[in-house]
Amino acid sequence: MFNQTIRPRRLRTSDNLRRMVRETRISADSLIWPVFIAEGENIYREIDSLPNQYHYSPDQLYRMIERAKKHGVSRVLLFGLPKEKDAEGSGAWDENGIVQQGIRKIKELAPDMYVITDVCMCEYTSHGHCGILCGHYVDNDKTLKKLAQIALSHVKAGADMVAPSDMMDGRVAAIREILDKNGFINVPIMAYSAKFASSFYGPFRDAAGSAPAFGDRRSYQMDFHNSREAMRECALDVAEGADILMVKPALAYLDLVYQAKQNFDIPIACYAVSGEYAMVKAAAKAGLIDEYKIMCESAVCMYRAGADIVITYYACELADAIRKGDIG
Ligand code: PBG
Repeated sequence: MFNQTIRPRRLRTSDNLRRMVRETRISADSLIWPVFIAEGENIYREIDSLPNQYHYSPDQLYRMIERAKKHGVSRVLLFGLPKEKDAEGSGAWDENGIVQQGIRKIKELAPDMYVITDVCMCEYTSHGHCGILCGHYVDNDKTLKKLAQIALSHVKAGADMVAPSDMMDGRVAAIREILDKNGFINVPIMAYSAKFASSFYGPFRDAAGSAPAFGDRRSYQMDFHNSREAMRECALDVAEGADILMVKPALAYLDLVYQAKQNFDIPIACYAVSGEYAMVKAAAKAGLIDEYKIMCESAVCMYRAGADIVITYYACELADAIRKGDIG
């Protein structure tokens, strides 16, 4: 019989020992919570497609801040739901736009909350696409000017970091240039670099009212068959001055999180998107899985693949799990 001198199970014999030899350590400091701000007053409404996530009007944002603080989450990613939309998405760069109002409110109530904004047009355009249309095609270079304006307006309102999610070519350079020209040299850009045309965004589009009125996003978001192209997108964003790279969605794309971590030396974020969250919620509701354990396991796997930062609707619950010592 083979003499068993090598026994990997030896290091699994007690909880104490397993914790000692863990390879992945995670901290609530690396969690970002996406938050939806709706134009209007007195809006505090649970989002049908995203259970336990809410639309907050600016006057109700104190509720979001209370929840975040209770769980020890202090980084948020803001999305806006404007009342009016138009072909150019002009609400996106309005200094009194919904995200700009929201940023000011959060900074007034909680100056230590780190505020990141999603820079995109799809929630603001009547057609629901992420840029300026030329016929049915999103015009890249016309859109760049608008994206730069949007980012600048967010930063002027007090945003700490901007995160362009539109997938136009050259947007990181365009945003870096306008921020630098206006003296915001220290505002970082987290680029949605490897962002795929994904059906996992379905619940978000309900939540943000941003489904395209015609066609789909495949002429700007990436084809999910590709991984070398994802690294090319990352390399371009690094060259253009991105400070953080992002892979999105997360769980089905962990190969890219891993590759990005191997290839680039700046922090890597991944975004566990609305469909990932909604699927876990639905399966748990049907009694098929243990929501808490699946949430914990999925998040740890994202970090294990190489994520330094995880953007997730479960940020508050994960922060608790880390504090309790269930993971991390
Ligand atoms: C805006 C944007 C989207 C998401 C983040 N920013 C939607 C999309 O690209 O269609 C998706 C987030 C999620 O599903 O949780 N472009």
